[in-house]
Amino acid sequence: MIENSPFIKALKKEPLEIPPIWYMRQAGRYMPEYRAVRSKFKNFLDMCKNPDVCCELAMQPIDKFKLDASILFSDILTIPDAFGLKVEFVEGEGPVFRNPIRKRIDIESLPEFNPDDLDYVYKAVSNIRSALPSHIPLIGFCGSPWTLAAYSIEGGSSKDFAFTRNFVAENADISEIFLEKLTNACFIYLKNQVISGANVLQIFDSWANLLSEADYFKYSLKHINKLIHMIKSDPITADIPIILFAREPKCEPIVLADSSADCLSLFWSMDTIDINQLKSKISIQGNLNPAFLLESRDTIKRETYKILDRYKNYPGYIFNLGHGITPNIDPENIKYLTDLVRSY
Ligand code: CP3
Repeated sequence: MIENSPFIKALKKEPLEIPPIWYMRQAGRYMPEYRAVRSKFKNFLDMCKNPDVCCELAMQPIDKFKLDASILFSDILTIPDAFGLKVEFVEGEGPVFRNPIRKRIDIESLPEFNPDDLDYVYKAVSNIRSALPSHIPLIGFCGSPWTLAAYSIEGGSSKDFAFTRNFVAENADISEIFLEKLTNACFIYLKNQVISGANVLQIFDSWANLLSEADYFKYSLKHINKLIHMIKSDPITADIPIILFAREPKCEPIVLADSSADCLSLFWSMDTIDINQLKSKISIQGNLNPAFLLESRDTIKRETYKILDRYKNYPGYIFNLGHGITPNIDPENIKYLTDLVRSY
């Protein structure tokens, strides 16, 4: 039963002897098995549009490392792609939007979001759910409305998203409309993932760090709060635990706990926060710096123990990294880390 799995218990803030473990980007280029499949596709999103391949990729880290949770293999940029912004992944450049949001009219003339355009994602969810052992929970996910807006306006990745920040400052009203459209799309998208078999949902606010504290509430957290409220109010999704990952937001973590998410996924630099005020309110997931996985075993051990010591009395602690596994990490170190946490 899924309810008895350590991961779901932790999300319900139950104290556990050994924390459940999974890793952000547990399926990815660091695995030779992934690269073998990836080499058959020119465009990354074409691969995401193949539900059988997504299933195979999601299962790779589960089979190899016996992790406590699986995550849907897909990407957060499927929603902007469904809005007609034509997302491509260019080798060495990351995502590139062929139809980015450049002017007000680009938002005004956006088509209605059609959730059926993302049927390939829901099919991937149901394939993965069927392939997984029945006691391993499956995480569905989406990007936060702000993070999706940032990519859509910028037209891809960027160091500081200067165009986006300028655009929203000068076009606050229409930006609000865009963020609302994205919030509604995220809700239907996540609901369909739950209907297809997702047991947990994670929201990735990967560009939370771009905004000042006041702007963070206005452009990001307000919409995340609304999205979580919609999920918690719908009978189909009401009981699904929600994990919120926000990269270095300029607000206190307690403010994020008030979003009514069930779990806070901490970025690796968020290691001096006061966890006492979060206890009893929200589970915590994280937050080893993935860069330590490029160092010696002694360093990995020392840094992992620091984190395990910090959270050993925290009810509902889930071990994870503070951001995704990078392509240059040796899979043997993922195995080493997993064994280390389980034998602590
Ligand atoms: O195991 C998993 O976590 C796989 C599922 C997954 C992917 N992306 C696959 C992926 C998830 C949950 C994501 C989320 C995602 N995508 C986020 C949020 C998490 C974070 O990192 O902050 C973001 C910001 C994206 C957008 C994105 N996707 C970028 C910027 C890039 C290019 C940079 C890069 O890492 O390559 C991607 C591509 C991507 N998404 C890959 C994978 C496995 C690599 C693509 C390839 O093989 O060429």
